[in-house]
Amino acid sequence: MTYQVYVRSFADSNGDGLGDLAGIRSRLPYIAALGADAIWLNPCYPSPQRDHGYDVTDYFDIDPEYGTLEIFEDLVEQARQYGIRLLMDVVPNHCSSDHPWFLEALAAGPGSPARERFWFRDGKGESGELPPNDWTAIFGGSAWTRVTEPDGSPGQWYLGVFTPHQPDLDWHHPDVPEMFDRMLRFWFDRGVEGFRADAVTFLGKTEGLPDHGAEVPFGKGSHLFTHHPDGHIAWRRWRRLVEDYNRTNDRDVLLLAEAWTADDPGALAAYVNPEEFHQAFAFDLTTAPWRADAWRKAIDDTLDVLQAEGLYPAWTLNNHDVERAVTRYGRADATQLDDVGRSNIVPSAAEVDERLGRRRARAATLAMLALPGSVFLYAGEELGLPEVLDLPDEVRTDPVHARSGGRVKGRDGCRIPLPWTVSPAGSHGFSPGPGAAEPWLPQPEDWGIRSAEALESDTSSILHLYRDAVAVRRKLTDLQGLDLTWHDIGPGVLAFARGNAVVVLNPTDHDLQIPPALLEGRRVVLVSDPSRRSTVRGTVPADTCVWLAP
Ligand code: GLC
Ligand code: CA
Repeated sequence: MTYQVYVRSFADSNGDGLGDLAGIRSRLPYIAALGADAIWLNPCYPSPQRDHGYDVTDYFDIDPEYGTLEIFEDLVEQARQYGIRLLMDVVPNHCSSDHPWFLEALAAGPGSPARERFWFRDGKGESGELPPNDWTAIFGGSAWTRVTEPDGSPGQWYLGVFTPHQPDLDWHHPDVPEMFDRMLRFWFDRGVEGFRADAVTFLGKTEGLPDHGAEVPFGKGSHLFTHHPDGHIAWRRWRRLVEDYNRTNDRDVLLLAEAWTADDPGALAAYVNPEEFHQAFAFDLTTAPWRADAWRKAIDDTLDVLQAEGLYPAWTLNNHDVERAVTRYGRADATQLDDVGRSNIVPSAAEVDERLGRRRARAATLAMLALPGSVFLYAGEELGLPEVLDLPDEVRTDPVHARSGGRVKGRDGCRIPLPWTVSPAGSHGFSPGPGAAEPWLPQPEDWGIRSAEALESDTSSILHLYRDAVAVRRKLTDLQGLDLTWHDIGPGVLAFARGNAVVVLNPTDHDLQIPPALLEGRRVVLVSDPSRRSTVRGTVPADTCVWLAP
């Protein structure tokens, strides 16, 4: 299990209201107790934080808000002592508009070699006042921004498919791949065991940058700037670098792709293969409605394309870009929603029943932890934190909010600083003691009862379920392989075998009787809701998952 740490929201060591590396270091025992084999850190490089680190100004350092290279190296070392590997986040599609390369390009003017590292183009219209094409940005507005030239005149336009603060890099310029080669090695040399590569489907743009011609839904990219073959040239280069690095240094570093290919398994296979990424996230479960058929399709689609190659996916139910599962599953439309046309950053607006959502999230977690492949857990998920929906607009920082003119709330609600203690002191233990600054996003009133401390003392809490499930997953040899066999035990339910173990997920609203044949020679080793004793007699209550093993 890999534990995803959103650095800014995890633990603040110096009281400035921002999570930091020393904060993570102080919480290593907690992460180790969860059973994590690895930590994935969201970007912690110097950045103006306009998309919280996904806008990098220096790929070879740590943001002073988060610490120093020295603290980073110490974190790597201390994590290693717990048997935890550290993965970083690499952002290759774009850098910050404050990156020295971009500042140089602005200063150097049109036609300069410095502009060739980006996508600068003349505008259309009589005096270049119209963008070069009609592409819209993922986070809203045009994908083009006009610059003011050094002489003060309105000038060229540059491409930023996310926001204007994240100019896209043109990988045809030799400096670009060369810098990323150096970057990967730089961090591997400091003990980093791999990278989660950001937004890999966006690298490379259709030649001639033609108009898209039709409206693209908010949160989705145009096919003219997604899945371009140039991306694959870059990933093959990275994979060769990694193979070479591993061979020369006797290491085992890996590359993991963030490729939004939910509902498009063929596209996933194009990124995960022996010449490109070792692994990729399977995002299908983050958009699948709470229904057995949808879950089965999500699992089958992903496994079908990868298993044939002996490869496996990285499953996830939560991350810093999606509405937290407790809220998602508690929505009145959780069973009907189809992911078609829906994006991870535009959630539903239906009513939320949080208790129901938490019950389902527990069941979903148990089912996911039994799937073949690796599993990513997003910090706070083990506390069953909901999405914070009622943040006032003025505290929202996600560029999605501003770029959509407030129409889309954005992703701040899944990034609220974590509650560690019941007592409100130091923002529920997020920051040290009295006198600490307010956290960068406000915590809700009830954060204390959701804290790690509160859940620790309740053995039926979701925190205990996580720990138990991760521990059993590790021990149970049946779960180690890549096999998965479906059992059809009735409409609306999901049952699969992994070796001799059997997992039953009942996402319906009524009790399910497990067929005696499945119970024979097996006992219940885990139940997502331990308060329902009936499971012992072979019943799986509504919205519950059980693991059966010999
Ligand atoms: C990825 C990141 C997201 C970021 C975007 C642009 O999707 O996960 O947080 O905003 O890329 O870099
Ligand atoms: Ca801090």
